[in-house]
Amino acid sequence: MIDPVKELGLAAPIFAFSHCRDVVVEVTKAGGFGVLGAVSFSPEQLEQELRWIDEHVEGRAYGVDMLIPGTYDKEAEESTTPLLDLIPKKYMEFSDRVLDEAGIPRLPDDIQEELRKRLTARDKNVTPAGARRLIEVALRHPQIRLFVGALGPMPKELVEEFHRRDIIVGGQCGKGKHALRHLDVGTDFLIAQGSEAGGHTGEISTMVLVPDVVKHAAGKMSVLAAGGISHGSQILAAQAMGAVGVWTGTIWLGTAESELTPFEKEALFAADAEDAVRRKVLSGKTVRMIRSKYTEAWEGPESPGYLPAPLQGLVFLQARARIDRAQNKEFYSSPAGQVIGGMTEETTVREVMYRLQNEYADAVDRVSGIIG
Ligand SMILES: Cc1cc2nc3c(=O)[nH]c(=O)nc-3n(C[C@H](O)[C@H](O)[C@H](O)COP(=O)(O)O)c2cc1C
Repeated sequence: MIDPVKELGLAAPIFAFSHCRDVVVEVTKAGGFGVLGAVSFSPEQLEQELRWIDEHVEGRAYGVDMLIPGTYDKEAEESTTPLLDLIPKKYMEFSDRVLDEAGIPRLPDDIQEELRKRLTARDKNVTPAGARRLIEVALRHPQIRLFVGALGPMPKELVEEFHRRDIIVGGQCGKGKHALRHLDVGTDFLIAQGSEAGGHTGEISTMVLVPDVVKHAAGKMSVLAAGGISHGSQILAAQAMGAVGVWTGTIWLGTAESELTPFEKEALFAADAEDAVRRKVLSGKTVRMIRSKYTEAWEGPESPGYLPAPLQGLVFLQARARIDRAQNKEFYSSPAGQVIGGMTEETTVREVMYRLQNEYADAVDRVSGIIG
């Protein structure tokens, strides 16, 4: 069994998911392991980000996370129609009406056109061919030692290809029995992500999920605990439940290095734990995200309901562009987990890493005292 903490020689068993290259670098330099979320980059942008990380991470290894579909509808893969044109009118009309009524201005034509181009360019990122283009880019960067698939198990041939290149393969897992499908394709470790987590999330809480995934992994795959982790004591708790470390996301959003704008950070710091709700408005699948007047309008009586992924996501991103431009906090929403309740001001990645490790040491002392 491969233990990624030992295999990667980490000083701290802390993995950090982030869309921001600065966070990836700083976590890695502070003894943890940064993993870049790559799904929204074009191949050219991804190349730029990875080159920057290579140059700043001082020779250390780091990871990449992608949506790698196991299967995909062939027709959708070959279609040349932009996904934006497949959105039925009533959904965009509803979204626009909600924002119009709140006085949030529409985007000027040139900005709307730019957004359309950007969204259309990433249409194919989640098809097998699109994911492959991003993988090809990543494989040109030998400091990448870890790959995670966010959409269930990766195809077996891909896992084998990663292994040939000495890359460790991880998979997100929201139910104990998902472990079995990962075992079939040769996944090395699982991220048992409980429902407290920011982003796409299931129904089972971390406390219940981690021991169950550990049981199903049956000593053949190691497990990282994810969802709701923002204290060092929880790292010890995760280890007590059989995990070899933790995988974190939300805590990095409030750091000085994160890509969020000051407007976005203010909304994050103002939110309580109960404001991080599960909604389908962001992608058509359940995502934990900040509750806002926009998310709640989609839950209301006039809502047309949700489109399937990936179309709902395109409606959401267009609304977000309007909301961000107007800097409207009441309508702002983005993925975040329940730990936002404890996040009230900006800190640096290094401060978070030190705090987690100090709290971990305190927890070890406390528990040793109890046991001793
Ligand atoms: C803003 C945001 C975006 C995310 N996007 C992805 C993603 O693209 N792929 C993925 O595997 N996980 C994604 N996640 C989930 C994280 O990888 C991680 O499992 C989760 O954040 C852990 O829970 P926490 O938020 O309570 O720390 C995202 C999380 C957040 C907060």
